[in-house]
Amino acid sequence: MEHLRENHLQVAIDGPAGAGKSTIARIVADKLGLYYLDTGAMYRSIAYKALASGISLQDEKAVTGLARIIDIRLSHNDRQTVFCDGEDVTSKIRDVEVSRAVSLIASYPGVRNRLVELQRQEALKGNIVMDGRDIGTYVLPDAGIKIFLTASASERARRRYLENIKEGKKVSLEEIRSDIEKRDAVDSQRKFAPLKPAKDAVILDTTGLTIDEVVAKIIRIIREG
Ligand code: CDP
Repeated sequence: MEHLRENHLQVAIDGPAGAGKSTIARIVADKLGLYYLDTGAMYRSIAYKALASGISLQDEKAVTGLARIIDIRLSHNDRQTVFCDGEDVTSKIRDVEVSRAVSLIASYPGVRNRLVELQRQEALKGNIVMDGRDIGTYVLPDAGIKIFLTASASERARRRYLENIKEGKKVSLEEIRSDIEKRDAVDSQRKFAPLKPAKDAVILDTTGLTIDEVVAKIIRIIREG
């Protein structure tokens, strides 16, 4: 495929909400000296901007128009700072309101086409770890390494709950669990590039595993790759 360079290592990490993809992907990238791209942050930036500008989330045309003109920049430093039209939105894109809005706007083909184009451009820069929902199936179908990270729904909810507590965000465990279940349902059922493991992905259930254990498993898969 034209958008890929054969000599580049591409690691695709997909999976449902709260499976630990971004934490794990960032550490793996750091340890192996690869670029890291959090594609969820891109969808979240569009949801944030739509909410902040009073655009109705149901208005597919308006949200797609926004996706076409928005300037999203993700820095490749440790913090993965996200700038949206010049504004630092790193923390705001993790708010509950954005999490509740994102799956709907991510189901719009026009939004996805625009972001996939940007994601493939990033992949041309060099060896990369990319995490999301459709990286192994759609964005980088020829990626050399594909991992599908998952964990039980209660463990995923608990992890997200603890992250929120750490950031001083007050949402109950029950609300979080229900939010991520709804989001997974929309992400798996959408028509365009739904959440599902690629046929050639390694499925890694991280229930009960520490971050270090998951990182070690993935690095082993990459080295043996
Ligand atoms: O970190 P978390 O698992 O909560 O989600 P995320 O990776 O930040 O992604 C947020 C949302 O963006 C997902 O629930 C999807 O609706 C959408 N997304 C997508 O559709 N495709 C991607 N490649 C990445 C994210």
